[in-house]
Amino acid sequence: MMIALAADHGGFHHKERCKSLLDELGLVWKDFGTDSAEGVDYPDFSHAAARAIQQGVCDRGVFFCGTGIGMSMAANRHRGIRAAACQVPEAARMSRLHNDANVLAIGERLVDWALAEQMIRLWLETPFEGGRHERRIGKIETEK
Ligand code: RB5
Repeated sequence: MMIALAADHGGFHHKERCKSLLDELGLVWKDFGTDSAEGVDYPDFSHAAARAIQQGVCDRGVFFCGTGIGMSMAANRHRGIRAAACQVPEAARMSRLHNDANVLAIGERLVDWALAEQMIRLWLETPFEGGRHERRIGKIETEK
């Protein structure tokens, strides 16, 4: 599984830490920036990484910003992207089980690394439940 990583300055440190975690889990990743804690605009990085998932270059993404909100909002503009901004492990788990989230967005200013790591591990290992949820996520795409 190829994971797209993206962050703005507010999520840069978590993105860097996430690389080691993914290495430890034996997962490959592609870094769409940013490359430092210097101020940038989060949509630039979210769009680039979301596009890679949309095009099948990457399978899923873990995005970071200050809150996780801006990165998820930009990513969700892409057809087929289901980005979930989560602050607790149960939300991350449910975003996989019921929503088949293909992007997890975390806010570095809200979630410390220990908790973020727990959420990422859980999110990566939780499968989509399918069934009735398949129909529901299909309906997300019906709105133009
Ligand atoms: C940057 O200051 C901050 O607005 C950004 O990281 C993010 O939290 C936006 O949603």
